[in-house]
Amino acid sequence: QKLELELEAIEKGGYPHFMLKEIFEQPRSIMDSMRGRLVAENTQLTMSSIREYATRFKNAERILIVACGTSWHAGLVAEYMIEEFARIPVEVEYASEFRYRNPVIREGDIVIAISQSGETADTLAALELAKAKGAMIFGVCNVVGSSIARATDAGAYTHAGPEIGVASTKAFTAQVTVLSLMAMMIAEMRGTMELTALRTLMLEMEKIPAKVEQALLLDKEIQAISEIFKDASNFIYLGRGFNFPVALEGALKLKEISYIHAEGYPAAEMKHGPIALIDENMPVVVIATKDSSYEKIVSNIQEVRARKGRVIAIVTEGDTVIPQMAEFVIEVPNTHEALMPLISVIPLQLLSYHIAVMRGCNVDQPRNLAKSVTVE
Ligand code: G6P
Repeated sequence: QKLELELEAIEKGGYPHFMLKEIFEQPRSIMDSMRGRLVAENTQLTMSSIREYATRFKNAERILIVACGTSWHAGLVAEYMIEEFARIPVEVEYASEFRYRNPVIREGDIVIAISQSGETADTLAALELAKAKGAMIFGVCNVVGSSIARATDAGAYTHAGPEIGVASTKAFTAQVTVLSLMAMMIAEMRGTMELTALRTLMLEMEKIPAKVEQALLLDKEIQAISEIFKDASNFIYLGRGFNFPVALEGALKLKEISYIHAEGYPAAEMKHGPIALIDENMPVVVIATKDSSYEKIVSNIQEVRARKGRVIAIVTEGDTVIPQMAEFVIEVPNTHEALMPLISVIPLQLLSYHIAVMRGCNVDQPRNLAKSVTVE
């Protein structure tokens, strides 16, 4: 027993929980996901599995992404990136729905299955179905040799290392990293992006680990904000564009480990429902970094303020507009808008972690949840 406890302490590397350790590992794990795959200086991308299926990717008429939970959120980010850079229509589906709804799958389709564990029953069944209908299956898994990894035609491992905390953190950023590289590589093969733009994006990608490191310095500040909101019974998370999936992921993290009800929404869609919930007790986390939807999200913040909602805004460093309207502002380093999810998700992971700890929850093993759902 004592030995077990000591071993666990060693495995946690000095952190009180695996989740916190994994959050702080992200500069390193993102680097590991890119290693050997990206040399921005020479505008060079190497993912052998994509190269091997170059013709399929070049001619793909459609990409379907199937996943569950956090991996599904990574899929949403990928949808925006692949459509933007590679101009292939993408659909993202919950694996559990996809497998039972007789979906249209054509031989020219590529199905990407995203799974940290590589063992999620629904995701595995969804890809088997797509495979039987003749689609090519590409896996983005973390666990090497897992069932999903073995069932695919090709794939790219995320190389995030073992993730122990039930709430996924470093696996998410690793998935987004690999999917970004894939989007860039497909764009390059299809000639859908100017080379200079591609190079700029790649150079930005290389800087992500350092920027994530910088975002992690916000920990103390976020801890203080967590103290203020730890007793809230509801939270709303809003984002637009590339940050919309981040809003979903932030809300999921909070629900999973602190048992606070949280909803993630595309900021503009708030008008069609959640706005009715906003009053002076409602914390609203808005991811409002400087990107092409910035002006729009500023108006959304004003709408929340007009209803006395308590705004916690994630902004780009140096922003002078939002600090005048939000109650709390968390500044993150700037990057290309498509890569922002890799940075903007960090403060949300920390926020959910600290709130859960303050509420006395079991952060690494939340009630009712499993790390990997291998049955229906
Ligand atoms: C479970 C886990 C989540 C995870 C989801 C999908 O619900 O608790 O953290 O996102 O399964 O898992 P996968 O291993 O397929 O990514």
